[in-house]
Amino acid sequence: MNLNKVFENNEIWIKEKLAKDTNYFEELGQGQNPELLFVGCSDSRVTAEELMGLGPGEAFVHRNIANMVISIDLNAMSVVNYAVEHLKVKHVVVCGHYACGGVKAAMQSADLGILNPWLRNIRDVYRMHRDELNAIEDQENRYDRLVELNVQEQCVNLIKTAVVQKAARQRGLVVHGWVFDVHTGKLIDLKIDFEKYLKDIMEIYHLD
Ligand code: CO
Repeated sequence: MNLNKVFENNEIWIKEKLAKDTNYFEELGQGQNPELLFVGCSDSRVTAEELMGLGPGEAFVHRNIANMVISIDLNAMSVVNYAVEHLKVKHVVVCGHYACGGVKAAMQSADLGILNPWLRNIRDVYRMHRDELNAIEDQENRYDRLVELNVQEQCVNLIKTAVVQKAARQRGLVVHGWVFDVHTGKLIDLKIDFEKYLKDIMEIYHLD
C-alpha cells in the first residue's frame, strides 16, 4: 500500500465534501451528536460507517477483536459510558461478522499467548451454549452460530452495565445485535429481544 495515496485520497475527499456543502467542515468542527454507538470487530472488512452508509458525526465507534464487551476492559467501558451517559446515543449496536478470525481462534485448541485471556471470553460463550453448538454437525454452520451467540452475549454484557440499565429505564435506550455477512455484504439484524433480556437478568444484575 502506498501511503502517499492515502493523503491524495484525503484531498479528493475534502474537495468532494466542499463541493456539496461549503460549510461542511465548519459544521463538523462544531461538535458531534451521534445517535448510534457501534461496537464491531477490528477486522479490516467490517468498515463500520461505510457498510451502514453513514458519514462523519453519525456513529460513535468502538472496535476490538471479535466485538467483545468485557466488564473489566477500561477501553470498552469508557466508550460505552461516554456514548450512553454523555452523548446520549439512542441505540447501541453490537455487530459481529461471519468468518471472524477471533471467533474461529476460540474454537481451536492453540496457545495464542496474550490473546488467550481475550479469546477465553468467547470460549465462555461456547460453554454457555455448548448443547446447541455441539448439536450442529457442520463445522461452518457451528462457527456461524457461535458468531451470532457471541453477539447475543455481548449485548447481554451491555445490559449488565449500570449506564445501559439506567438509560434504558429513563430514556428508552435500546441494544441491538447485528451480524455483517462478509460473503454478501448484508447486514443482518439478529432481532435480539432486548426487553426479554432486560427482564430475565435483572434479578441478578440489577444495578440502577
Ligand atoms: Co472478527
